[in-house]
Amino acid sequence: MDKLEYFSGIPEVGIVPRAPHAGPLLRHVYEQEHGRGGFAGKVSHTYHLYPPNNWLPEETRVLDAGAFAPDWDSPLRPLGGIHHALEVMAPAAPCDVYRGMARLVANATVAMNVTAPRAAMDYFFEHHSATLVYFIHQGGGALETPFGPVAYTRGDFLIVPKGLTHRFELGPGPQYYWMYESFAGDPEKAEAPTTGQFITHSRSDYRFPRSLETRNEAGRFEIVSKVDAVYTRRVHPTHPFDAVGWRGTYLPYKLAVEDVRPLVADRSHVPPSGHTVFILPGCYLCVFTVRSVEKEGMWIPFFHKNLDYLETIGYHFGEFFSRGGVFREGMVSVHPVGLPHGPHPPALRAFLDGRRPETFDEVGIMADFATPARISERALGSSRKDYMQSWAAYATDPRFRFSETRLHDVRRLADRLSGERDRLRPAPLDDEDGQ
Ligand SMILES: [Fe+2]
Repeated sequence: MDKLEYFSGIPEVGIVPRAPHAGPLLRHVYEQEHGRGGFAGKVSHTYHLYPPNNWLPEETRVLDAGAFAPDWDSPLRPLGGIHHALEVMAPAAPCDVYRGMARLVANATVAMNVTAPRAAMDYFFEHHSATLVYFIHQGGGALETPFGPVAYTRGDFLIVPKGLTHRFELGPGPQYYWMYESFAGDPEKAEAPTTGQFITHSRSDYRFPRSLETRNEAGRFEIVSKVDAVYTRRVHPTHPFDAVGWRGTYLPYKLAVEDVRPLVADRSHVPPSGHTVFILPGCYLCVFTVRSVEKEGMWIPFFHKNLDYLETIGYHFGEFFSRGGVFREGMVSVHPVGLPHGPHPPALRAFLDGRRPETFDEVGIMADFATPARISERALGSSRKDYMQSWAAYATDPRFRFSETRLHDVRRLADRLSGERDRLRPAPLDDEDGQ
């Protein structure tokens, strides 16, 4: 063997020293640490042509939040016991990704937002309070970062780490993104000891930037940062993406919803938590994707009261069978903690009648928020007034209404069915036949 080759075990691209903070290269490039946990957590290092702090001191301004992003910090209100169906948002004027950001719901650690950008960002952005998880419902483009660009398209999750300097370059056509703002930590991959590392996706499905595009440019480069509801602009005389190399594991990345391989069951109903993709502090992100329908048992959602979480679903693609045609693509349901919900009447009728489809041809993004969670005034303004009516058939359809003989009928059926098993059980042994 001529020559052995080795990996360092830590991702790196371009010109980097042998180790962080060490070696003669640091007298020629400027190292910057991107670190969580007070120098003890996840970390990456970038190596720059110019000092990262080369801002023009007289140019720093605190911006008027109401003018910069008027709906992002839309006031929050208690929900009470009412379900909401939020219409697709249509901004009055063309806005960029952040100026058009609108908050929908939030708890203490996570907020769900929506944006429908139609204008280019003429600045770079840094969120100093949160890691951002985007879901691209419609559109595509490139997320430009100091680590290199990440091209994205419809159906991608995009993870933008806290503090990352970035800019969205929009592709052609309409754009519509849901954005989950995580104030207390980064998304962790959901997996359970009982189902292993590869359900519902593998870490190898993540796509990290690798094509570094170093910019050696002079000019006026504005960076807007956000801390809580305070927006501050600073101006640098060199392009912020002047890194010649980087190393580390605290990085932007994407995950395509097509790479989510759902857990399915033939003989029982997989609960929503079985479809969890990312766990955030105080929030679960789940994907209901195209999947085969359970063969026996409950193949529609069971009626449920979620006693600890407010539930949202962003409807991305498909017919949304269990929602009975109420939702079209781009809408969001908001189901408050404790209030029962479940299949809409058409879905329950199909189940009772045995009209079982072979596949659920739909994609929905569920985000459940630990209580207490609240809804924004902006969201209340787009809530359909008739959503609570969508279950009205349970009170009016003769099939579900009061009947004098109902108790008697159920007791009679139970005598026959309560000990029965489904048809997919193993065949009985010969010597058990007839006993
Ligand atoms: Fe639910």
